[in-house]
Amino acid sequence: MTVPIVVLWLHLLGVVIWMGGLMYQAHVLLPAARRGGAGTFAEAARRGRPVAWTAIALVAATGLYNVTRLGPLERVMESGAALILAAKFMLVLAAVAVAGQRDFAQVPRLTRALAAGDDPRPALSAIGWLDRIVLLLALVVLYLGLAISRA
Ligand code: HEM
Repeated sequence: MTVPIVVLWLHLLGVVIWMGGLMYQAHVLLPAARRGGAGTFAEAARRGRPVAWTAIALVAATGLYNVTRLGPLERVMESGAALILAAKFMLVLAAVAVAGQRDFAQVPRLTRALAAGDDPRPALSAIGWLDRIVLLLALVVLYLGLAISRA
């Protein structure tokens, strides 16, 4: 067992934890929240936040290590891996920005609405849209990750 493989394993473990948690919230908890369980959803989203952001940090740190293991710069440029990596990096940045908006703006907005007795549906709807965007970006990023490895 070598260090690069362990780091790649941690990279994918972080991806699974981040995306799995988001998938579960977006496709299981959020539909239930729309039918009247907004309080439970707000609590789950708040508790899921440290797990998700630890996973994001793990994915980013191990991703940067993976970059250092791609081999000589010339080969990385010639094979097209550098271009794919640049595209992947931009999409990851976009996904992290959207996830930040979800977790640090819309989830607190939902909590405030519930505490004030206001309608939680606008915040739930915004969270639903942001989750779909992150999941869609992640689909492309997953493909690009595989393409880099095989370039
Ligand atoms: C700062 C962010 C990231 C960087 C710099 C990064 C970088 C890399 C690099 C360089 C590789 C190639 C490793 C190798 O071939 O040895 C890789 C593999 C991969 N990455 Fe990322 N990554 C990042 C985030 C992500 C995210 C957010 C996802 C998924 C949503 C992801 C999914 C994958 C996958 C599926 C592989 C392929 C593993 C394999 O088949 O060997 N990465 N990443």
